[in-house]
Formats: sequence, C-alpha cells, structure tokens
Amino acid sequence: MSADQRPGPPAQGSLQRRSAARTAVVWNALREVLDRQDTGRPASVVDIGGGTGEFAVRVAELGHRVVVVDPSPDALAILARRADESGVADLVTGRQGDLDDLPDLPDLLGDTGRGADVVLCHGVLEIVEDPAAALVALAGVLRPGGTLSLLVNQRHAAVVARAMAGHFGQARALLESSVLQQVQPSTDPGSRNHRFTADEITVVLDEAGFDTVSMQAVRVFVDLVPSSLVDLEPGAAQALVELEQAVANRPEYLALATRIHTLATRRT
Ligand SMILES: C[S@@+](CC[C@H](N)C(=O)[O-])C[C@H]1O[C@@H](n2cnc3c(N)ncnc32)[C@H](O)[C@@H]1O
Repeated sequence: MSADQRPGPPAQGSLQRRSAARTAVVWNALREVLDRQDTGRPASVVDIGGGTGEFAVRVAELGHRVVVVDPSPDALAILARRADESGVADLVTGRQGDLDDLPDLPDLLGDTGRGADVVLCHGVLEIVEDPAAALVALAGVLRPGGTLSLLVNQRHAAVVARAMAGHFGQARALLESSVLQQVQPSTDPGSRNHRFTADEITVVLDEAGFDTVSMQAVRVFVDLVPSSLVDLEPGAAQALVELEQAVANRPEYLALATRIHTLATRRT
C-alpha cells in the first residue's frame, strides 16, 4: 500500500459525529438536571477533573457558573481559551487542584460557601487513589440535596474489550476482580484504572452519603461500530445517537455499556 492509499487520521466531521454519539446521553441527562434547578439564580456547578472544559463550557452557555478543578495546567489553559472563545469567560473559573486533596469549600466556591448545586465527576473516579474516599470528598462540595453527575468506566465492557483484543488473561483477571480489591490505594497513579459495576456504584455512593436517582448505560454501541459504517451511510450517525439514547435507560444494557452515568443526590 502506497503512502497516499493508507487511511489517514479520521476526518474532523467523523470525530465530531463519534464524539456526539459518546456524549449525547450524558449531556441530555445533565441538561435536565440543570433545567430543573429552581433556586431563582444561576446554578453553582463544580466540574472535578473537568479537563479542557468540554462540559463546563456548555454548562456555562446555559447561564450557570462553573468552577473546573483539574491538576493539569495545560488542560486549564485550553479551558480558559475555550470559555473565552464561547463568550462565557466570566462564568467559568479554572482551579488547579486534585480530587484527592480538594480545597476547602469557601476557597473553592468563593462567596457561595453553602456548597454547589451540581457537581460533575466524569472520567476521574477511575484514576484516583481511593474512589470511596473521593466520593466522600465530592459529597463535601455539594449542598445537601445537590446533585452529583458521576461518569465511570463499567467493568464488564472492559472484560469484553480485553477478550476481543486477545488479552484473555487480562480479561479473566478483570472479571474476577471486584471494586473492593481495586480500591486498595496504589501509590502509582499510572497503574490505577478502577472499573465499576452498577451494583458497586450504588453501594459506594450510598456509603458516601448519596441516594442514587438514575443510572444510564453510556456508549453501548458506539465503541463497537466501525467508523466507516457511521461515516458512509447517510443518516447513520444520527440513528446511532438515537439508538444510544433509546437503550440508555434500560437496566439490562448497563452491563454492556462502556460507561455508566449516575445521577445521585447528597442526603440532607
Ligand atoms: C479522562 S479525563 C476526563 C475529562 C472530562 N471530565 C471529560 O469527561 O471529558 C480525566 C481528567 O481528570 C484529570 N485528573 C487526573 N487526576 C485527577 C485527580 N486526582 N483529581 C482531579 N482530576 C484529575 C485529568 O487532568 C483529566 O483532565
């Protein structure tokens, strides 16, 4: 195969379509939570591990105030540029910080020392030292009755993915692990990759003082379908988003999903 016959990197439109299919379910659920806020003021939102602000900027575009906490200065710099370009720089604050060692509330939220209305923690619980302790810290950032939006990797899908890649030993080890084993603190951040089942999420949330309100299956199909099918077939990308949305609230699909999105409220 000559250089110009080789497939290049996916086109921008392809990446955007795939990204939309990956985030639509979570964004729709989060948006409903934000639309339900009836405090008479913009919601106070904290996005822990919010990275470059993919969600934070969209939340700010709805008029809410968002504090993004992330250890990466590079991510925070991109966040600031993105917020600026979207015209919401006055609503978005980046704070360098760590879920394992969060700043005190008044320090984090400025004058609103009462706790955030909504906390996002998407794709972070997997890599912290102790997920159970991290959830307790997240509860401390929320006001009583406030909502946690938690997105984590789901273990059974990871078992299937490893097996399909031919890593049968790894698949077996993951299958036989449990979150209780996985949460043993590891000093090596690179080695941390906690994965959770729906039942485990419910248990650790309960122990941290949360009531689980809903659980959604996220990315049931999008990681399995070849890009060419989505890109070449007219209307396929939109149909895939609609299919993901259609199965998201069916509990039988939780065990097939790459990720689980949970909404939980902090007990009063
Ligand atoms: C997989 S990315 C998820 C980014 C974003 N939340 C999203 O869903 O698109 C993980 C993010 O967590 C941040 N992170 C890593 N360790 C963290 C920690 N201990 N506390 C808070 N954030 C952390 C990383 O810098 C990165 O931005």
